[in-house]
Amino acid sequence: MIYLDHAATSFHKPPEVAKAVYRALQGIGNSGRGAHSASLDASRLVYHTREAISNIFNAGGPSRVVFTCNATESLNIAIQGLLKSGEHCITTAIEHNSVLRPLYLMEERGVHLTVVPADVKGCINVSQIEAAVRTETKAVVLTHASNVTGNVLDIEAVSKICYKHGLFFILDASQSAGVIPIDLQKIGISALCCSGHKSLLGPQGTGVLCLADGVFPMALKLGGTGVDSFSHRMPKFLPAALEAGTLNTHGLAGLLAACNYIKTYGQLKILKEATELAKLFEEGIKNIPGITLYGDFEAVVRTPVVAFNLRDIDSGEITDELFQRFGIATRAGAHCAPEVHRTFGTEEQGMVRFSFSHFNTKNEIKEAITALRILEEESR
Ligand code: ALA
Repeated sequence: MIYLDHAATSFHKPPEVAKAVYRALQGIGNSGRGAHSASLDASRLVYHTREAISNIFNAGGPSRVVFTCNATESLNIAIQGLLKSGEHCITTAIEHNSVLRPLYLMEERGVHLTVVPADVKGCINVSQIEAAVRTETKAVVLTHASNVTGNVLDIEAVSKICYKHGLFFILDASQSAGVIPIDLQKIGISALCCSGHKSLLGPQGTGVLCLADGVFPMALKLGGTGVDSFSHRMPKFLPAALEAGTLNTHGLAGLLAACNYIKTYGQLKILKEATELAKLFEEGIKNIPGITLYGDFEAVVRTPVVAFNLRDIDSGEITDELFQRFGIATRAGAHCAPEVHRTFGTEEQGMVRFSFSHFNTKNEIKEAITALRILEEESR
């Protein structure tokens, strides 16, 4: 199989990741639930993973790192835990449902919502975010990079607006974390939410919520924490306040190994190599007759994603052909990002999305281009 669906989940992981999960599965206790060596080993492992994540995002220390089961849970904690009825929140039309659905729920609970539209290339004009700010605005919630087009938002500019107007800046970094360097403290991000299984190269079932100093959302889940057990409430300190129940410590062992790999290999090198492959693919298909590309391909920084359609053929038909005949794994359909498709008028057709990793090879890209040429010829 040629796997080109890394925006859904990274398929090729550094071998150290599986080894670390295996080691953890062979002998680790429950973090924070005992004083025996198995429990202490688990606590140390979780602590080191918090440190590694804090280092990757310059989050300000391990206590600012909350572990969740995925980016969706992190976003739900930040959105539901920081917004109240009567307040106003700004988001964009390129969001994933992990941002939109919690926000629509908050709308039902009395939060006012502005969705800033995207332009014809799927880009967001940051000045429209500032224009949407009102007295009751409390937060801006948006993605760092579209999971559909690979367009990257100017988060430094968004952060300046948030700072100027005293707003929370909640960032969905699911598509960028691990491939585009992010400095939480320097940029000024209130809550950074991401999954561990995409470009962070860790296992599924690991999610990250990094909180800036002084940002303390209400907990979404309540339960055991191993501390303050006689209190009716969750502990008043982070990260325990937001981590009810046993963590996915085996998954976190893998995430720690993945963070160490990323640190050694270098995020900029990962970005450069994956971007070169995406560019090679884009260059190879853009002149195939009947191909419509979606996104801003002139941008200096993009995630390694290329979305397109071939004439008016349903995107699912193309991805099925690609997989069944050529063994190429990609994703079709709406990609859980409905407003992106309203922007491009592709609600019915969806889009074919190729997403690349630095683990892919130039030969794989050439095979993918050849496959698309064949499909185009056959579709005439
Ligand atoms: N959100 C993931 C994607 O874009 C699953 O494919």
